[in-house]
Amino acid sequence: MIEIENVSKIFNEGEEQAFSALKSVSLTVGKGETIILSGVSGSGKSTLLSLIAALDKPSSGKIIVGGELISKLPDLHASAYRAKHIGVVFQHFNLLEDLSVEENVIVPLIHSGLPLATIQKMAQKSMQSAAIEHKATQSVNRLSGGEKQRCAIARALVHDPELILCDEPTANLDRANSLKFIEMLEMLHGMGKTMIVATHDPLFEALSFVSRVVHMEDGKIVDNVR
Ligand SMILES: Nc1ncnc2c1ncn2[C@@H]1O[C@H](COP(=O)(O)OP(=O)(O)OP(=O)(O)O)[C@@H](O)[C@H]1O
Ligand SMILES: [Mg+2]
Repeated sequence: MIEIENVSKIFNEGEEQAFSALKSVSLTVGKGETIILSGVSGSGKSTLLSLIAALDKPSSGKIIVGGELISKLPDLHASAYRAKHIGVVFQHFNLLEDLSVEENVIVPLIHSGLPLATIQKMAQKSMQSAAIEHKATQSVNRLSGGEKQRCAIARALVHDPELILCDEPTANLDRANSLKFIEMLEMLHGMGKTMIVATHDPLFEALSFVSRVVHMEDGKIVDNVR
């Protein structure tokens, strides 16, 4: 499903403050695998996820997702690629605070060309599976942390992506909501989704449906174990 080959990312390349955030990272992720990306703050987890989501491009190396070389996609194609294949739950959720839950959830479908009634049905279904349907018309700035997170999940799932990327998804959640989130991941795993979750949360250790923990240190993968 994902092939990452010798990927490096240098921020501010060629400048005095150039910084190597990823150093020749290689990783293969099979379809249906759930991978935990661990490592201390600054080790490169978010950078790697953003390259897989084609939100940014590597300085060198190759990233192939579902047979498509995404490391060189022009921006327009990159957003089409995300709209088709990828669901992202960001570290800070990145919701549009003044819009309602439902409006946020349909954002990934705006350019889909689908009829409005279909879009509304898809949003309904996604809000149901993320247990946030009861807040559909409420604006996001009046949601609790756990509710915002469920809204972000509903948005990530609305287009039924085969690859789901989560960045510190439980960082702002209490234990009960974190456990609910993990249950949701397990359900998605049961549906055959491929998932990569960047997290420091010890609750993610030793989950039966996790196929591997990939440990990052200083921009490199140092451990890649079951
Ligand atoms: N746009 C940028 N410009 C310059 N440096 C950056 C940029 N984005 C990230 N970095 C640097 O790259 C390194 C890796 O950042 P990254 O966000 O991938 O870490 P992380 O493992 O996700 O950390 P955290 O656990 O805190 O989220 C950090 O040292 C960060 O300062
Ligand atoms: Mg991060």
